[in-house]
Amino acid sequence: MRTDTPVTIHRQDYAPPAFLVDRVGLEFRLDPAATEVRARLALRRNPAAAADAPLRLDGDGLALQEARMDGTVLPPERLVFGADGSLTIADPPASGLLETLVRIAPEANTSLMGLYTSGGNFYTQCEAEGFRRITFFPDRPDVMSRYTVTIHADRLRCPVLLSNGNLVEQGGEGATHWVRWEDPHPKPSYLFALVAGDLVSVSDRFTTRSGREVALHIWVRRGDESRCGHAMDSLKRSMAWDEEVFGLEYDLDVFNIAAVSDFNMGAMENKGLNVFNTKYVLASPESATDGDWQGIETVVAHEYFHNWTGNRVTCRDWFQLSLKEGLTVFRDQEFSADMGSRAVKRIRDVRGLRAAQFPEDAGPMAHPVRPDSYIEIDNFYTPTVYQKGAEVVRLIHTRIGAAAFRRGMDLYIARNDNQAVTIEDFVRAMQDASGIDLSSFMGWYDQAGTPEIAAEDRYDPAARRYTLTLRQQTPPTRGQADKRPVPIPVAMGLLGPDGREQPTRLASENAAQSGTRTLLLEAAEQSFVFEDVPAPPVPSLLRGFSAPVRLRGVPRDRLRFLAVHDTDPFVRWESGQQYAASVMLEMVAAQQRGEALGFDAALAEAVANTLAAADADPAFAAEALVLPGEGFLADQMEIADPVAIHLVRRHLRAEIGRRCGPALRATYDALADHGPYRIDGASIGRRALRNACLAYLTAAGDTALAKAQFDAATNMTDSLAALALLADGDGPAREAALASFHARWRGDDLVLDKWFAIQAMAARPDAIAQVRALQAHPDFDLKNPNRARSLIASFAAGNPSQFHDLSGEGYRFLADAVIALDPVNGSIAARLVGPLGQWRRQSAARGALMRRELQRVLDTPDLSKGTFEKASKALL
Ligand code: PHE
Ligand code: ZN
Repeated sequence: MRTDTPVTIHRQDYAPPAFLVDRVGLEFRLDPAATEVRARLALRRNPAAAADAPLRLDGDGLALQEARMDGTVLPPERLVFGADGSLTIADPPASGLLETLVRIAPEANTSLMGLYTSGGNFYTQCEAEGFRRITFFPDRPDVMSRYTVTIHADRLRCPVLLSNGNLVEQGGEGATHWVRWEDPHPKPSYLFALVAGDLVSVSDRFTTRSGREVALHIWVRRGDESRCGHAMDSLKRSMAWDEEVFGLEYDLDVFNIAAVSDFNMGAMENKGLNVFNTKYVLASPESATDGDWQGIETVVAHEYFHNWTGNRVTCRDWFQLSLKEGLTVFRDQEFSADMGSRAVKRIRDVRGLRAAQFPEDAGPMAHPVRPDSYIEIDNFYTPTVYQKGAEVVRLIHTRIGAAAFRRGMDLYIARNDNQAVTIEDFVRAMQDASGIDLSSFMGWYDQAGTPEIAAEDRYDPAARRYTLTLRQQTPPTRGQADKRPVPIPVAMGLLGPDGREQPTRLASENAAQSGTRTLLLEAAEQSFVFEDVPAPPVPSLLRGFSAPVRLRGVPRDRLRFLAVHDTDPFVRWESGQQYAASVMLEMVAAQQRGEALGFDAALAEAVANTLAAADADPAFAAEALVLPGEGFLADQMEIADPVAIHLVRRHLRAEIGRRCGPALRATYDALADHGPYRIDGASIGRRALRNACLAYLTAAGDTALAKAQFDAATNMTDSLAALALLADGDGPAREAALASFHARWRGDDLVLDKWFAIQAMAARPDAIAQVRALQAHPDFDLKNPNRARSLIASFAAGNPSQFHDLSGEGYRFLADAVIALDPVNGSIAARLVGPLGQWRRQSAARGALMRRELQRVLDTPDLSKGTFEKASKALL
């Protein structure tokens, strides 16, 4: 148990910084065991703060060697060290030059926050509060400074020395050399970066539309150069897209990306020097799946887009995190939609939102897009802040339209450039540019929970009048019992009995409109009256998923109708999924009562129809073929039953595989790739569809096909799809395939992660024994976040029927892993706690076992405050 209770930080307590730092000079003498960091801070009192506010500098684990103010050594009595690692300077002048020298040990830093080593090279990670592990500083985003960084290092060990901005000077003789970087743009400390080591670069150029020549470099370990092409290509396309769509140009002469295999997150947008998890840089057809390929495109774009939304305009405090993250996710989603199929991209994004964010919003960690309080800000890099935040930006985009949104972006940047601002500043710019009152949209930022909407309708044949009544309600979440209605744009249309889209005219309008229109549901209940409706229509609601809500109670016959006829591809997909989900939930209930499962022939019919029409858009067909996931189904149940859900899904897949066998096989065969391997939207779509067919055929008992595909595959997508199916089953093909995959890829970390993940997610009765054994495998490394996630998170989040085994062993495995990881890397440990927090949605027996493990985590001495926050909130 921790002996103290960590402090909770509240949004309402924001106060401006006591001192501003106009300029920062940093000088590093790099050494893995003892790096010296000299910092020179040009400080002055902030006129906006109290005149007697103390000069307090954040610090974490720093050994201070000396401190001077304006050249004079500060005596010990003027240096006050806080229990939290901070340093307060007594009797500070109104302005002055503070110089500190500290020593740190990067090679001993396993948290991967601050300065650390990976494979002998040096990297930093400062967001959110890592800069204080490098030097004493007011480590908060509203302190923006101009940085000059000098790096001294061993010439042989560290031929490459990088930091933010432009390289301005270099020199040195003998064994050490040095470089100086200057970043002309003021920035908060969380955007500082340093990378040094024996790296090689893949280089290219980009000319901005105003004619600036930008050198582009991707820095990797020797041997990885050949796998950077796609990342580079994605970068250039992102740069061009941001100019075209938002008029935003790059603002330095060099853009560096450095890839590192030990990294807590996906990537980091440090000014002019992005640092990336290798997972989002390195790709070759043999080693990366189509999903990896798309992930790289998205993440490269996301980090690049932060240059304006995050870096030039940054956050005042961490409660505003979604100001940069929600907006930047929205921007990367739009970019990817423009690069490929908009409909398929939207379907995938919604699938992701529902898999991660909806459960979060319904669980113990539910929080608003703009949280009110936190203990550890690391815990708030969540699907709510990122994905729901992006949905809220999309709501505003839908409400005011693309043209006004673009004007709003221009205004937002013009007003707030080089400043640290709040979400209100963003919404205000959108409001002023559009002339539309957006004040009620703040409800989306301030209320947690997923709003639910229900529709009821009435048709009056005599008056040819159709009335659609929409109701909304947001469930209570911790600390927010009563919710007010939020503005919900409902994109919709009406289909006639023949399945054709009807023109629509609201009672208040003179002329009918054709195609999709958007209703704005602002009150708890509202009716919309349509005139001149010749026959009772079927409403198609939430086209394109126009709001992150749950639409309840659409009858099954309408779902089937919409799945076939709607003009909106999202609603066609969605209706098919909701239909299947409703059938599956009924089957889960039957399973719980011990009844036979049966089969709804309409599902086989839907699969047959999808296959028959698949040629037109294979990627869409692949999305439509995949049954709703186990997590999605669990999320629809008051008390989940992961084992029954798994059985039902397995049963259905086998039934469909048997009943549609010939058609599935014909599609599978027709899609065989004969030409050279290509990665473009059409080829990716064909592979996705083919592998969706393979999954059904394998479920129906034909494992020979998966084995043949695995043996013959020349790309990772097909190889891994087959391996996952084999690993899920039994028999000699399983062990042989896993062994040969390991033998082939043992030298490739990113592929080995997949090997671990596939076994962790195999829904076999021996899964827990398998993950325990894999934890002892020589290739397992708890310190490497990708590897830890590939085994532990894949099992806990990706194998629900085994994780929730009634023995409680799955829970025990997870808690053991959290306890072991916490002292090594607290932020990754805290992230792993999540699945145990779902205990309220499980049976009483499972819930008790889960709580016991959460308590065991909490009872661990010296628990990090992040893991403490997750485990204690989960137990509440
Ligand atoms: N800011 C990063 C992004 O969204 C994510 C990140 C957060 C990375 C914290 C590292 C640490 O692009
Ligand atoms: Zn981001």
